[in-house]
Amino acid sequence: MENVLSKIANEGFLVSPDLKIEPQHIEEFLDFIKKLQPKPFLISNQIYQDFLKDKQQEIKYVILKHTEKRPEIKTRVKIKKNYTKTSKKTSISDWVTYYFDRYNRLRNLLQNREELRGVVSIGRAKKMDGRQNVLLIGMIKDVRNTFSGTKIITLEDPTGYIDVSLKKDEVSKLGDEIVADEVIGVVGVKSKDFVYAEKIIFPEIPARPIKKAEEEVYAAFISDIHVGSCVFLANEFKQFLDWINGKIGSKEQKDVASKVRYLFIGGDLVDGVGVYPGQEKELLIKDIYEQYKEIGKYLSQIPKDIQIIVIPGNHDALKLAEPQHPLFKDIAAPLYDLDNVTMLSNPAYVNIHNIGKFPGFNVLMYHGVSFDHIVSEVPKLRKFGYTRADKIMEFLLKKRHLAPTHGATRVDPTPQDFLVIDEIPDIFTSGHIHYTSVGRYKSILTLNSGCFQDKTEFQLKLGHNPTPGRIPIFNLQKNQAKIMRFR
Ligand SMILES: [Fe+2]
Ligand SMILES: [Fe+2]
Repeated sequence: MENVLSKIANEGFLVSPDLKIEPQHIEEFLDFIKKLQPKPFLISNQIYQDFLKDKQQEIKYVILKHTEKRPEIKTRVKIKKNYTKTSKKTSISDWVTYYFDRYNRLRNLLQNREELRGVVSIGRAKKMDGRQNVLLIGMIKDVRNTFSGTKIITLEDPTGYIDVSLKKDEVSKLGDEIVADEVIGVVGVKSKDFVYAEKIIFPEIPARPIKKAEEEVYAAFISDIHVGSCVFLANEFKQFLDWINGKIGSKEQKDVASKVRYLFIGGDLVDGVGVYPGQEKELLIKDIYEQYKEIGKYLSQIPKDIQIIVIPGNHDALKLAEPQHPLFKDIAAPLYDLDNVTMLSNPAYVNIHNIGKFPGFNVLMYHGVSFDHIVSEVPKLRKFGYTRADKIMEFLLKKRHLAPTHGATRVDPTPQDFLVIDEIPDIFTSGHIHYTSVGRYKSILTLNSGCFQDKTEFQLKLGHNPTPGRIPIFNLQKNQAKIMRFR
């Protein structure tokens, strides 16, 4: 033990007397603490426990075969969050547990905010006499507009609820962005039965530095391939496969292709069967098993040194309620048969390229069904229609939730609200709206991966203008994404 502790001290760390470490873990543990940001002052047993927890999450570390034309680059995928349970019958008490969990997780995030030091429960605030300053954290039960241009929010926590009045200037600053069921902080003054808000605080994303990998390596993001649809763009998809195999493109584009080691697929791999009324008329492949066989054939052509990470979408063959578990092993067998594919839930959270001293990029993958509701319900975002997924993703990052309002997407009331964004990603990627975009919110890169499906009759009716065949390619060394066009 003495020897183990001196190894840690020799690396310039102070060792806490409570640290009890298994000697066989020393090298890996040293590697772990060297990557921690900020650098810890004291190495405690708690840090060792965090290391053990992190170690358990790692279920895939493979060095895949590389072909001669492609340089040898190590890859690593660590699954951080993956919901694998299938759904069960739910009751009212499941919903109560679900919303309690959401409230508690978001409350914990808000409590760290300087402005909310000294927060009190709503029950206690209601008992306050006279006019007093008050700090609250609650879930929005209801939002109403008044004739005078102010807003009244009914805020709820486990101890009760209270009406919060929002002044006109605060309404114009962020009123458009306030939605039912989200959890917010309120800085205000309590008088009689009301709280007059001076400031509304969202859980938000703190400022963090942007990460950059040590070597030149790329990740490609695709989604909404819709294999089986009459308007699946097979030629464009084949071009994408030709490019990634180094067969087409300029010298520079071929060089990039040879260094792609991660491919994210954000759902709607196939068009599905019976997804909307009259869909059968728009299907080229009418059998769901055949649709997955076809996408399996395409993905088998991806070079074997590329890690493919797949989540489902609303067109895939499984329940719609989120979190959606990974695709079924029988229906999607042609994908499970591929060694370089990792099948995950929607949403999912993975870390890629934790190689050498680089801690890797944390990637939040979400198909994006809640975007439909947000585009139609949030006035500030309605004006962009389906063209600015980056703005929608920014909105969700501020709220730290993928579908804040009840009914924004179908939800399974799991004991823990899987849609809370409690870990801050480096990349947030989505699909579903078939419109490619690249944006950044603070340190987080926000990507929507577009589609490989032409405009459908259904989209024509809704006035959507998809951008097929345009995909974001991310340079891990520069922390920069560029859109590549295959159409
Ligand atoms: Fe789609
Ligand atoms: Fe979709």
